[in-house]
Amino acid sequence: MTIKVTPIQNDFVADISGVDLHHISDQTFEIIFQAWLKFGVVRLRAQNINEDVLQTFSARFGPLEEIPFGRMSEAAKAKVKNRFVTQLSNIVVDGKPIGGLGNAEASWHSDMTYVSAPPPASLLLGIEIPETGGDTYFADQYAAFAALPAALKLRIADLTIKHNAAHTSIGSLRPGFEPFDDPRQAPGTVHPIIRRHEETGRQALYLGRREWAYVPGLSLADSEALLDELWHYATRPERVWRQTWQPFDLIIWDNRRVLHRRDDFDPNSRRLMKRCQVLAHA
Ligand code: OGA
Ligand code: MN
Repeated sequence: MTIKVTPIQNDFVADISGVDLHHISDQTFEIIFQAWLKFGVVRLRAQNINEDVLQTFSARFGPLEEIPFGRMSEAAKAKVKNRFVTQLSNIVVDGKPIGGLGNAEASWHSDMTYVSAPPPASLLLGIEIPETGGDTYFADQYAAFAALPAALKLRIADLTIKHNAAHTSIGSLRPGFEPFDDPRQAPGTVHPIIRRHEETGRQALYLGRREWAYVPGLSLADSEALLDELWHYATRPERVWRQTWQPFDLIIWDNRRVLHRRDDFDPNSRRLMKRCQVLAHA
């Protein structure tokens, strides 16, 4: 097998073929890693792998996030096959969802930007895919930054955003958080709006999520107006790529450089995804 990297949208998104994730040499991994850095999103199709193989491959990108054991019942813990692989699903077994996010729409976001060192890479493997719906979209934030008018770039040069920690990407309150109705009250971490990528040195627009975001130092009205203006550039259709899943598609994206969102889907259909989250090095 010969590995091949095929760009999909210029220097954003690539398909990688000629790889079997059961057998990955260091040299092959380096090609995948460099493609991921260059394109921000890479897709490897037809990877019929189990959780152990997904975990072993994901761990090449860095330390992995553990599932939230602290909040799980003993019965739920006993069912866990692999503590570094999470499930996203709407499937319910014995009255309990077997994964997160249900069938809901997830609005534009980048993963876990509410912590001080957010994950660099996320790996998402499609297992069961509905006939329609549940597509995932990615938006290139190098391109979004580059497209900003010069005056706007100047205006945000020293500004930050407070990234809300209290809600999930489908808008539900995380365990342990109290509701609030003013973005200024949202708990979270502050990051510069313009983010320099550690590994490529390139600048990206770094917005996290629109809901409950706040630009410290501005009035609420000015913060809302600025965020709306920036989001307009962030998610313009020409910078967005849409993934229509097939079973055993694996997508790896760079959270420092892309936003993602997903469509909702018919609650009566089944969607099952397996996911590993790579943590920033301490
Ligand atoms: C994620 C996510 C989207 C999807 O895994 O972080 O947002 O398509 N998933 O399920
Ligand atoms: Mn996500």
